[in-house]
Amino acid sequence: MDNLNVKYCNVNFNNPFILPSGIITEIPEHRRAIEAGVGGVTLKSLTFEKREGNPLPRVWKYDCGMINSVGLRNAGIEDGSREIGEFLKSNKNTPVIVSLFATKVKEFLYLVEKIVPLSPQFIELNLSCPNVDDEFGKPLGMEKGAAGKIVKQVKKISEKIPVLAKLSPNVNDIADIAKNCEDSGADGIVAINTVGPGMIIDIEKRKPVLGAKKGGVSGPGILPVTVRCIYEIYEAVKIPIIGMGGISKWQDVVEVVMAGATLVGVGTATYLKGMKVYDELKNGLSSFMAKKNIKGLAELVGAAHF
Ligand code: SIN
Repeated sequence: MDNLNVKYCNVNFNNPFILPSGIITEIPEHRRAIEAGVGGVTLKSLTFEKREGNPLPRVWKYDCGMINSVGLRNAGIEDGSREIGEFLKSNKNTPVIVSLFATKVKEFLYLVEKIVPLSPQFIELNLSCPNVDDEFGKPLGMEKGAAGKIVKQVKKISEKIPVLAKLSPNVNDIADIAKNCEDSGADGIVAINTVGPGMIIDIEKRKPVLGAKKGGVSGPGILPVTVRCIYEIYEAVKIPIIGMGGISKWQDVVEVVMAGATLVGVGTATYLKGMKVYDELKNGLSSFMAKKNIKGLAELVGAAHF
């Protein structure tokens, strides 16, 4: 399936599929995605302090996808960066995106300083987690000035590592925020984080199903929001986009790529279908391209714009 090779920010990917940062929190699960043939992996967003995450249950399936409130469960930068260092040493073939979350510019800079010496292929700034705003206030990426300010400061210390900004769809104008990130030096945009937050109520128990009551919505139901966001971002910026949110079939992949994504994140579908979903998507996409005589995915990126 040579036609699936993709270059993103000058890094080679065997295929366009990425495991996004989100519900998978442990390194062994990331290794399972690599064994299943994913093109690249994003590790769980790291914070300054270790976080146990929100009360259980944190993840709930429903008819159109999932709702989660993981609450950024992670080991914290000290232990987390050690684990990441070991992971990077043992994994040479699959590009790795290290994701970071903070609520202050200074804190972001501390995290980036710790990660740069490990030389991951990418650093993702998670500017959009919807599950900790009760604790920290609205995510920094909800406002374009704040998003750009963080990117600008991080770019001063990130050396050669490309910096990606992960954005929320829960804003008035995602394209405007993406443009501000680009103008501030971002190398790529990751869109979208989960929609909402939403809530599901157990009608027998008469209470919300999630321990934290509300959570970000993902899965097939949000695909049209993803496609619209990618389409608008593509019209606003020149830097490449990683598109994600509700992709579970190869046809969804084609849609998101035609909207403007160069790489495609697939996360919730690994819960709904298992890790074999990556093979299913690769086969479907590759056959579609062969049938349409498309030699490389770059020919399709943004094809829906005219
Ligand atoms: C979470 O940890 O709550 C989900 C991650 C995210 O939405 O950024």
